[in-house]
Amino acid sequence: MSATLAILAALTGLLPLTLGDGDYGNYSTSAKPISVNSSGIPIPPFSTHIVNVGMSGLFFSPDNLNVSVGDSVEFRFFPLNHSVAQSSFSAPCAPAGPRALFSGFFPVQSDGGRQRWTIQINDTKPIWLYCSQGPHCQMGMVAVINPPPDQSIGRYKQAAANATANMSPKDIQGGITGSASPPNVNSSGVAPEPTGSGTRSVPFGGFTLFLGLIFILIVL
Ligand SMILES: *[C@@H]1O[C@H](CO)[C@@H](O)[C@H](O)[C@H]1NC(C)=O
Ligand SMILES: *[C@@H]1O[C@H](CO)[C@@H](O)[C@H](O)[C@H]1NC(C)=O
Ligand SMILES: *[C@@H]1O[C@H](CO)[C@@H](O)[C@H](O)[C@H]1NC(C)=O
Ligand SMILES: *[C@@H]1O[C@H](CO)[C@@H](O)[C@H](O)[C@H]1NC(C)=O
Ligand SMILES: *[C@@H]1O[C@H](CO)[C@@H](O)[C@H](O)[C@H]1NC(C)=O
Ligand SMILES: *[C@@H]1O[C@H](CO)[C@@H](O)[C@H](O)[C@H]1NC(C)=O
Ligand SMILES: *[C@@H]1O[C@H](CO)[C@@H](O)[C@H](O)[C@H]1NC(C)=O
Repeated sequence: MSATLAILAALTGLLPLTLGDGDYGNYSTSAKPISVNSSGIPIPPFSTHIVNVGMSGLFFSPDNLNVSVGDSVEFRFFPLNHSVAQSSFSAPCAPAGPRALFSGFFPVQSDGGRQRWTIQINDTKPIWLYCSQGPHCQMGMVAVINPPPDQSIGRYKQAAANATANMSPKDIQGGITGSASPPNVNSSGVAPEPTGSGTRSVPFGGFTLFLGLIFILIVL
């Protein structure tokens, strides 16, 4: 009812109401941008989860992630020379078979965080990860994506500490390697979000408001 009054007020010139791009006043409830693919079809709001590798010690941060299917995890490498490799829960510090994810090694002297390796999450199965450099895995440089309730990162870490060897997978596979152009990481180690994912954002608020106005006019 108050919306109708507001529209009427606007129509009679008592209240300014504009429908220009990007100005939704306080009438729209859907000003949040919606992502669309290049055909204009709305797509779910996939997001990228950032994991820093060796940023301030021999660990992944964060090392425990819940990630939705379709989202990506972007690993950012810091000095000196780390990797991301996939093991099973029960046999840490060793490749999870011939299809194990592996980033390869990223020797980094400075500009930590620029070198990146990104994996897309295709299902909700747990992904157990470790750094296959030296004894880093045994020292606790491990992580998990989507752990099941009965298996924790803590238990994986304990088992890793007992591993007799730290082995790299044979093949670099499963992710996409890239690097960001500097400057990218400020002194807090926080970097800007990646850009150019092939999607764009279109605000529908103005259009929704326009349809609502037409509807109200018809009803009246
Ligand atoms: C919505 O109303 C609030 C409070 O009246 C105001 O601060 C805000 O700027 C308004 N937003 C827009 C987009 O006009
Ligand atoms: C956009 O998404 C629709 C629905 O998922 C799909 O059919 C279409 O092929 C997509 N277009 C492009 C260019 O990706
Ligand atoms: C992941 O989700 C589970 C179940 O909802 C929750 O208990 C756990 O705290 C979450 N972990 C993180 C790191 O958000
Ligand atoms: C990085 O570590 C790997 C594995 O230990 C090693 O083969 C490679 O030579 C190292 N690279 C540099 C530049 O130190
Ligand atoms: C690690 O090894 C010790 C000694 O062999 C053993 O007592 C302990 O249960 C092991 N821990 C795990 C988590 O496997
Ligand atoms: C998800 O699927 C893509 C395409 O098949 C593949 O390249 C990628 O490695 C998969 N991600 C994981 C974590 O296995
Ligand atoms: C680094 O960037 C983040 C996000 O933009 C910001 O919150 C933080 O204050 C910045 N830190 C410094 C030291 O500039």
